[in-house]
Amino acid sequence: MSDKHKNHEHHEDHIDEVMGMKQGHGKVPRFLIVVYAVLAIWAVGYALTVKGIDERPAGGEAAQGVSAEVGKGLSGQCIACHGADFNGGMGGAAPTLHGVVDKLKPEGVKEVLTKGRGGMPPLGASWTPDQQDSMVEFLKTLK
Ligand code: HEC
Repeated sequence: MSDKHKNHEHHEDHIDEVMGMKQGHGKVPRFLIVVYAVLAIWAVGYALTVKGIDERPAGGEAAQGVSAEVGKGLSGQCIACHGADFNGGMGGAAPTLHGVVDKLKPEGVKEVLTKGRGGMPPLGASWTPDQQDSMVEFLKTLK
């Protein structure tokens, strides 16, 4: 009688009884289960940690929201026509932007920005409301 397969099952039972002794060679799978369990726990923890890190820059240092800084970043597009110091250009066709927020009010500035006017292209049409408000904030710093 050769009951190799049966023997295998019996083997498992024996292992439980003599855990200490068998751990050397026969118990590698059980050891791996422990490793996998630890890895699984670590993976969940890691996933949560990564999420936390991802959320931080979004609300934090990334220069979003409304600020003159953001507006300044967008103002490079205006220099060609309005001049490097925004004092007007195009031979007088593009007026100075100094004091323009007082003159047109924020709504008027955003109207020109998003709809264009004469030789002024609607550069802000694709901007977010925050970007439009940021440009207004930047223009306020020019007066
Ligand atoms: C292609 C040239 C050009 C560019 C680029 C340009 N502008 Fe203008 N802008 C003009 C011209 C020309 C006018 C005058 C329009 C008119 O006569 O109605 C004008 C008018 C304006 C006005 C109204 C000024 C007033 O006194 O009524 C504002 C505000 C303005 N531009 C802001 C900007 C900003 C901000 C940018 C950059 C995002 C910009 N412009 C980029 C050409 C330009």
